[in-house]
This record gives sequence, C-alpha cells and structure tokens, in this order.
Amino acid sequence: MDILESPEAMRAWRAGCPGAVGLIPTMGFLHEGHLSLVAASRRQDTHTIASIFVNPTQFGPGEDFERYPRDEDRDLRLLRDAGVDAVYLPPPSAVYPPGFQTYVTVEEVTRRLEGEARPGHFRGVATIVLKLFNATTPTRAYFGRKDAQQLRVIRRMVRDLDLGLEIVPCAIVREPDGLAMSSRNVYLSPEDRAAAPVIRKSLLASKAAWDSGTRDADALRTLAIRGITAQSRANLEYVSLADDDTLDELYGFVSGPALLSTVVRFGHTRLLDNIELG
Ligand code: PAF
Repeated sequence: MDILESPEAMRAWRAGCPGAVGLIPTMGFLHEGHLSLVAASRRQDTHTIASIFVNPTQFGPGEDFERYPRDEDRDLRLLRDAGVDAVYLPPPSAVYPPGFQTYVTVEEVTRRLEGEARPGHFRGVATIVLKLFNATTPTRAYFGRKDAQQLRVIRRMVRDLDLGLEIVPCAIVREPDGLAMSSRNVYLSPEDRAAAPVIRKSLLASKAAWDSGTRDADALRTLAIRGITAQSRANLEYVSLADDDTLDELYGFVSGPALLSTVVRFGHTRLLDNIELG
C-alpha cells in the first residue's frame, strides 16, 4: 500500500493506474462503516484509494476540530488489511497552502438541516471533496448514507460541475443495538451510549407506520419525535421529513420518496441518523 502526501504525488500515482479507480474519502479514526466502503470499491474497481484528512474548513468555531479522534497508525493498518492500494494523506499545508482563498458553495440543498445548524460546514465539505477528486480523479467515489445531506450535496456538486464520476451511496453500518457507526461515538459516556439506540428505534417506528400506509408528514415526524423525546438523556435538535432529492421539507400527504432524518444530542455529541421512506 502506497502513501501519498501531496496532490502532485497522488496525481503521479493515479496516472499509473489503468482501469477503474475508487475513492473512499475519510477523516480517519476508521470503523466498520468506512471499511464497508472500501469493500464496495474493491468489488467494483481495479484500484482503491482511501484518503485521510481531518478537514479544518468543515468545522465551525467551537466545534470539535482540535479534539476530533485521530489514530493514523491504526487507520493505516486497517486500510492495508482491507486491501487498499493507496492512501492519500496530505498535511494541512498541502491542502490549504498560504494564500488559499477558493471555496465551493452548493446552494439550495445546503440551506437547511445540517447547513443551518453548522453554517459553513458544507462549503468546507464541498471544497475538500472537490480537491480530493482533483488529486485522485476517481471513476467512483463512495459515501455512507448516514451523512444523508452530505451525500446529496456532493451528488449535486458532481452534476453541476460536470465532474463525470459516479457517486456510490452505501448502506449505514450499525452497532448490534442499532446505533449508526460514527467516529464521534467514542465521545459518548456509557450512560449516553446505552440510551443512544433510541434514535434508530424511533425512526423505525415512523418507518413501520409508513409501511402500513401512513402518508401524513406530520404524523410520521411526530412518531419519531415522541420516541426520541421519551428518552430523558436525548436532546432532540430536529426531526425532518424531506423530499429525498432536494431536501425540501414535506407537509401534508407524502407521495414520493422521502428522507426522515434527525440529529439528537447526547451531552455535547451530535448524533445523526436517517431512514429512507418509499
Ligand atoms: O464524511 C466525512 O468523513 C467527511 O465529511 C469527508 C467527506 C471525508 C470530507 O472531509
């Protein structure tokens, strides 16, 4: 497994790869979710690249950039064992050299939900993801469905900027009790960790209602809200039922595919989860 630390070195390595190349962009501190993206690429692509970069521009002031969990040695071991061919591991100075001043802004689809809760977050995400695409020119890039809005923002950017690569959405990987895997789960106290599966259970209650024919947006949202707020350790930020593509909030009768998503805080940790309806 090769390790490349500059865009130039990455591009030179990429130039020697005939066939399809898959990219798995990560911020490190890898878990089974990331490794499932690697496995998906290895099934489809001739070469698999993973990137590890904790991207400062997607963290707001007072967020957890400094304390974001990091373990480079373990990550590299996991990637090597998973059969990754190359890791793009640039230092911040190679990504954001002095004088850097160009950012990517995706408009409507970033305005609500995480975009509203974390101003500037998606500008940082879109910018780094485009830079990762430029350094690696992948045939396909793999993203987990847990970060549902991120996935839609990146899909929009790929379409709008004619990037000509395929975005492959991959299933959320969960702990046995249903909690979606996330590098930030390590922040949870044992009590909060024990309570956190309420998120999945509450979304499943709405999904069960959907499956048995409920189509009223408020009723579907309310079922999830009731379940989450019944858990006293959970601080609900939002439950959204939105158009699956545009993320416009839905009201009244829901006909098409919809995304039911939520953010719940346990202590200082924000946990995201979602379920697709229809
Ligand atoms: O989902 C993540 O880990 C990050 O937002 C990403 C896509 C690697 C960009 O920094």
